[in-house]
Amino acid sequence: MDPVPHPAPRLSLLSGLPKRVDVYEVGPRDGLQNELRTLPTRDKLRLIEALVQAGERRIEVTSFVSPRWIPQLADADELLKALGRREGVVFSALVPNLKGLSRAVDAGLEEAAFFISASESHSKKNINMSIAQAVATAREVTRAARAEGMRVRGYLSVVWGCPYEGNVPVDRVVDICRQLVDGGIDQLSLGDTIGVGTPRQTEEILSRLLEHMPASKLALHLHDTRGTALANTLVGLTMGVTTFDASIGGLGGCPYAPGAAGNLATEDLVYMLHGMGVETGISLERLVEAGEIAQELIGRKLAGKYLQAALGAREKAARKKAAESAHAPG
Ligand code: HMG
Ligand code: MG
Repeated sequence: MDPVPHPAPRLSLLSGLPKRVDVYEVGPRDGLQNELRTLPTRDKLRLIEALVQAGERRIEVTSFVSPRWIPQLADADELLKALGRREGVVFSALVPNLKGLSRAVDAGLEEAAFFISASESHSKKNINMSIAQAVATAREVTRAARAEGMRVRGYLSVVWGCPYEGNVPVDRVVDICRQLVDGGIDQLSLGDTIGVGTPRQTEEILSRLLEHMPASKLALHLHDTRGTALANTLVGLTMGVTTFDASIGGLGGCPYAPGAAGNLATEDLVYMLHGMGVETGISLERLVEAGEIAQELIGRKLAGKYLQAALGAREKAARKKAAESAHAPG
């Protein structure tokens, strides 16, 4: 069910919201990298197709990382070749280094996304590099990907807090982000990798960054571990951010960040946006179908709240109908 749109009152705090935002889907990558069971390539293709059918236009489908580190995505080359290109849809993938980029180029990738961390411990555990090495590698990957005609996205992880070090100084975040943006990336996605962020913190981080770069360069990648992802999204929206990462059914986490739960669920995000009159080009009904497919493939109930509400309502209606026909005369 689509939300009932509420016209903005004249003095609304939310009156300056953008008319449209981009939803960047990370379920097939961030979601599946974290599952114990590796899905066969054909199942991944089925899920991605359902996301495309729902109207998603930016989908991160896999990672060209070491298959020893993330065996769940070891079929990246095969998957991308099987997907091919789709009119109006950009498939992207994680690329940690030049070796990954060379694989990605061979597979026909359109947008490469490198990922580095704002804490030394997470950087070491996730990509086996110091922050300085990671920034240098990211800039190298950016130059090489651009030379191949690719779009380049960058992630900065653990911006709101680190599972190993706790607090992450905002000064350090600003310093790293400036180096990445100077390196020539198209978009920088700020990761609340373990979902600890609160709205005031989000406001502080964004206001410090916006002194150095436009909001159009930024995206928010919020994990919903403590239920604050939508509140942080709203802060981002009011501050001019127009790209939000999300994952179908709330799939996800980070294998090198203990305690990281799923990303903000795509359906929950789209429900809130549509209810505020912010367009996404995505069909909620079709998203539920994609969420159902994700559940079936993963083999468990997913965390997305809108998904569970929609499936619950459907089940209830089906039970009512069955009870009515059982009592019908004749
Ligand atoms: P390393 O072991 O230090 O790599 O890993 P190395 O350079 O020493 O190479 C070791 C072996 O790996 C060599 O092979 C390389 O060729 C190979 P060998 O000679 O032993 O046969 N290798 C590769 N193979 C395939 N593809 C590659 C590649 N690179 C090297 N690209 C490395 C360093 C970066 C590769 C490794 O640490 C890695 O793959 N890490 C990825 C971990 C990961 O994917 N984590 C999850 C994603 S991040 C995340 O979830 C956060 C995010 O969602 C945002 C947020 O939530 O905040 C993005
Ligand atoms: Mg993530």
